[in-house]
Amino acid sequence: MSEKAHYGLLKGKKGIVFGPLDESSIGWQIAVHAYREGASIAISNVAAAMRFGNTDELSALCGNAPVIVCDASKNDDVDSCFKELKEKVGKVDFIVHSIGMSQNIRKQLPYEELNYEWFMKTLDVSGLSLHRLVSYALKNDVLNDGASVLALSYIASQRNYWTYSDMGDAKSLLESIVRSYGPRLARRGIRINTISQSPTYTKAGSGIPGFEKMYEYSDLMSPLGNASAVECAEYAMTVLSDLSRKVTMQNLFHDGGYSSMGATIPMIKLAHEVLNDQELAARVGLEDFKPSA
Ligand SMILES: NC(=O)c1ccc[n+]([C@@H]2O[C@H](COP(=O)([O-])OP(=O)(O)OC[C@H]3O[C@@H](n4cnc5c(N)ncnc54)[C@H](O)[C@@H]3O)[C@@H](O)[C@H]2O)c1
Repeated sequence: MSEKAHYGLLKGKKGIVFGPLDESSIGWQIAVHAYREGASIAISNVAAAMRFGNTDELSALCGNAPVIVCDASKNDDVDSCFKELKEKVGKVDFIVHSIGMSQNIRKQLPYEELNYEWFMKTLDVSGLSLHRLVSYALKNDVLNDGASVLALSYIASQRNYWTYSDMGDAKSLLESIVRSYGPRLARRGIRINTISQSPTYTKAGSGIPGFEKMYEYSDLMSPLGNASAVECAEYAMTVLSDLSRKVTMQNLFHDGGYSSMGATIPMIKLAHEVLNDQELAARVGLEDFKPSA
C-alpha cells in the first residue's frame, strides 16, 4: 500500500465490510482505508467472489482479516456470518454494505420487459440485504453503541438514468431503509447513512450498458470531476469515525458537486454545437429536434 497520510480515525474500532471483490471495488478501498486508519476488520462476500475475486489478497493487506462467506440475500447465511464475526472479531463499531447486483442489467433487458424474478433478486440483493444485515446484527448483539452503518448508493435513486434500470428502484429502497432504521438505531447512538457515489469503474459499475458515456457525462457535469473509489473510501472514513456521530439517516453525496449542478458551460456549448451541426445531430439521433416554441 502506498504511504499516504492517515489520521488514526478508526483506532481501536472493529468492523466488517461486505462486498469487496477486487482492487477496483469501492468496498475493497474502504476495507484497506479502514485498516490503515487503525480498525480491525473482517471482510465478507459470496462464495463465487472468493473464487473470482482477490479476497485472500485483501485479507493479507488488512492484517490477515477474517474472510466470512455470506450471501446477503439469505437469512441463514447472514445469521451465521454475524455469529462467526462475533467469535472471530467481537462486537463491531461499523458495518459497510457495498453490495449491488442486477441480472436484468447484466442481460440488458429493457425496463418495460424486466424479468420479475430477477427484479425481486435485484431488490433483495441490492436493497433489502441492508435491512437483513442490520436486523441480524441486532439479533446477534454484534453492534456496539455508537456504531456506524454505511451503504453505497447512486443518484439514480432519485432521478432517472435510463440504463440503470431496476438498480434505480433498488437504490430508492436502500435509501428508504436507511431512513426507516434511523430513529430506531438512534436510541443506542447508532448511525445509518448512505454515500451516493459518482460513477466508478468497478465490476458492477462497468457492467451497466453505456457506462463509459455515463462516466464522461458525469465528469463533465461535476465541478470537481468524478470521485474515485479511493476518494470514496477516504470520505467513508469520516462517516465511520466518531467525527460524524450526529450524522444519521442521510444520503451523503460524494460526487464532485454533480448532484447540485443544473448545467455546466461545456455541456451547454456541446449541446449547442451538436444541435447546429446537422450531420452530428443525426449521428446522435437528434436530426428531428426543434427547440420548443
Ligand atoms: N461503481 C459505481 O459506479 C457505483 C456508483 C455508486 C454506487 N455504487 C455502489 O457501490 C457498491 C459496491 O459496488 P462496486 O461498484 O464497488 O462494484 P463491485 O462489483 O466491486 O462490488 C459489488 C459486490 O457485491 C457483491 N455481491 C453481489 N451479490 C451479493 C450477495 N448476494 N451477497 C453479498 N455480496 C454480493 C459482489 O460479489 C461484489 O463484490 C454497490 O452498492 C454499488 O451499487 C457503485
